[in-house]
Amino acid sequence: MDIKITHLHQNFGGAPVIRDMDFSVMSGERIAFLGPNGVGKTTLFRHMNLMITPAAGGVELDGAAISTLSVKEVRAMKRRIATIYQQHNLIPRFKVINNILAGRLGQWSTTRALFSLLIKSLDVDDVRDVLEKTGIADKMYWRTDRLSVGQQQWVAIARALYQNPDLLLADEPCASLDPRNAEKLIRLLVNWSKQHNTTVIASFHDVELALAYFPRIIGLKDGAVFFDLPAGQVTKQHLQDLYRDEKPREVEAKENVVIPACCITPIEI
Ligand SMILES: Nc1ncnc2c1ncn2[C@@H]1O[C@H](COP(=O)(O)OP(=O)(O)O)[C@@H](O)[C@H]1O
Ligand SMILES: [Mg+2]
Repeated sequence: MDIKITHLHQNFGGAPVIRDMDFSVMSGERIAFLGPNGVGKTTLFRHMNLMITPAAGGVELDGAAISTLSVKEVRAMKRRIATIYQQHNLIPRFKVINNILAGRLGQWSTTRALFSLLIKSLDVDDVRDVLEKTGIADKMYWRTDRLSVGQQQWVAIARALYQNPDLLLADEPCASLDPRNAEKLIRLLVNWSKQHNTTVIASFHDVELALAYFPRIIGLKDGAVFFDLPAGQVTKQHLQDLYRDEKPREVEAKENVVIPACCITPIEI
């Protein structure tokens, strides 16, 4: 899915959170957002998945200006977008399989959806397929709240893949994962994007992982695009300037960022 953000502006309670933001994304691109807390990354995701309406400026998806779409067209567009949130938004008492099936509920008729959830789970093979990809196929019939936080994050990822979206948004998807699982997740997103030509945009706090796996990096600061560069052109200076005003503990951590050699050319998987 193509995206075009033009002069996007958003206020919350009078305070501007996004100011005059512009960027475009081509179908199948993989982009990482970097930036300190509070710069508007989550708000930007909520514009791209049509959860909020811009105060000013525009969002175009596949050439369609969102402000011109009918309610029905917005609903159809939303079905093509999957979001992995910081809080995974699963239904705790549901079995894993039903949380994943919920990813396609918007694509089904009400009868089929109710039948699937209440009586007999349809699409079991597809669910098993995404659970195998995320490494938790043995948890398919477990109650979701019996899983660890990390495993629940994998369920949320499986649900997003099961939706087979044209645009996959991941808002700090690695936040509850250990480093090994974080890298596994990124490889999965990258491979999925390559195989399905899915546009993937993800935000990260782990700068090195983002630079290693994502060909294009957008640094966000003060509600605007601070830099928009191929990963190989992002320097230590860019990163220090991006995180300069972050709280002392975080600055300390970021100052130690070593740009890995692999960033010169993003890793091909
Ligand atoms: N619904 C909302 N109402 C009021 N303020 C909000 C709302 N959503 C976000 N904000 C504020 O907007 C700013 C950017 O938030 P967010 O987009 O979550 O940033 P990030 O994801 O980069 O940490 C923050 O100051 C946050 O408190
Ligand atoms: Mg956020």
